[in-house]
Amino acid sequence: MNAAIIGTQWGDEGKGKIVDKLAPFFEYNGRGEGAHNAGHTIIHKGEELVLHLIPSAITHLEMICLLGSGMVIDARAFTKEIELLTTRGISLHGRLFVSMRAALITPRHTAIEKSRKNLGAGTGGVGTTMRGVGPAYEEHRARTALRVGDVTKPDFKIKLTHSLLETPELTATSRAEIPALVEEYMKACETLALYATELEPIIANALQDRSSFELEGAQAHNLGVNHGTYPYVTSSSCTAAGLCEGLGFPINRLDSIVGVAKAYTTRVGGGPFATELFDEVGQRIQTIGREIGASTGRARRTGWFDAPVVRQAAITNGVTELALTKLDILTGFSELKICSHYLLGGRRYDHIPWDMNDYANVEPVYVTLPGWTEDISSLRRFNELPENCLNYIRTIEDLTCCQTGIISVGPAPEQTIFRVNSDFFEAMDEH
Ligand code: GDP
Ligand code: IMO
Ligand code: MG
Repeated sequence: MNAAIIGTQWGDEGKGKIVDKLAPFFEYNGRGEGAHNAGHTIIHKGEELVLHLIPSAITHLEMICLLGSGMVIDARAFTKEIELLTTRGISLHGRLFVSMRAALITPRHTAIEKSRKNLGAGTGGVGTTMRGVGPAYEEHRARTALRVGDVTKPDFKIKLTHSLLETPELTATSRAEIPALVEEYMKACETLALYATELEPIIANALQDRSSFELEGAQAHNLGVNHGTYPYVTSSSCTAAGLCEGLGFPINRLDSIVGVAKAYTTRVGGGPFATELFDEVGQRIQTIGREIGASTGRARRTGWFDAPVVRQAAITNGVTELALTKLDILTGFSELKICSHYLLGGRRYDHIPWDMNDYANVEPVYVTLPGWTEDISSLRRFNELPENCLNYIRTIEDLTCCQTGIISVGPAPEQTIFRVNSDFFEAMDEH
């Protein structure tokens, strides 16, 4: 079986946890888009491990992990992550490969990003992760990017130096620092070069052998440049189709598209957010849910579950089942709300309008449900969940027109419930 795991909201839904949990069902794990703007958290040997570039199944030592050509790679961030994994005793030899076609993020891109007023955190700004992601994708589309394969070439140092010298945003403040930046980057490239390869034969052979793939989305549908809340988005395509393209995986070989949805909604950075809570309920979700960005440490904005957000993501991506995460965080609230649709000027909207001025003014219409008080974090079977919790899940299913196949009730892999009729249930029985 081949599956794509994608975010259906604004990121941080718990994709890393789900990818790690499902890893035993697969042989390959690939990322296809984004960069180290992502922060995917897993629990490895009881300790938290945050992965930014490297696929989340990496701790499963029998798995082959791939970074696809649709990603943008900062050699320094990559090297840092390799060092972290090595310190944690995770062997990478012969099982981690980076596409030579992926574009590089260099100090040029971070400098450009810092100079852009619209990308910062100021009023109306996108509030990016400041990792150089947008400028690197721009350069790639302009067909002038340095790519991962270039780091293996003898003239790479000269090309990198020229590129930094031709960056006014960099030279204006620190021209004298360029030689040191080049040396630092070149050092990181020594590590990157060890993993750089052409993915085509690897994927072709694996498909021929009928090996199974787990594709790992980064960011989320509503952060995607084509379908998200533009301009408050990242610069990559975050759909299942974008993920397949970015890895170089044939879309018709996917059997399952798992849409990961948090049981409430969060967002980091700027942009309208219809169900956002500014009261003590929102504060409580933020605190209990530990809603702090895994990449940047920024507090995540919190709000009620927004069904139009997830439903549209499910439709556009062809989601076959939802993985509903962080349900445990909602224990103890006397009542819970789910947004069923929006109203704007008397008109009903079942999706986010294209114009953010309109979206900022929609009125969310809510269904109010009773909460539950029982601790659900140690439950492992769907029908053991309290009735009000089951009712909450069923309402989400009705409003998003999706089946929930996987329910996560805690950050650890064992805190997962597989629904009897889910794609993974039978496979799980074999493990
Ligand atoms: P990702 O970017 O989609 O991989 O998600 P992040 O790792 O950025 O954020 C999800 C956070 O929630 C991490 O701290 C996870 O350890 C944690 N998490 C994931 N699933 C659950 C869950 O079901 N319950 C709780 N309490 N925490 C979870
Ligand atoms: P994961 O994979 C949450 C957000 C940023 C900002 C916008 C653009 O962990 O779910 P960028 O640096 O990409 O140009 O920033 O996108 N963003 C994320 N938010 N989770 C992520 O990744 C994100 N990656 C980017 O906060 O609003
Ligand atoms: Mg994250």
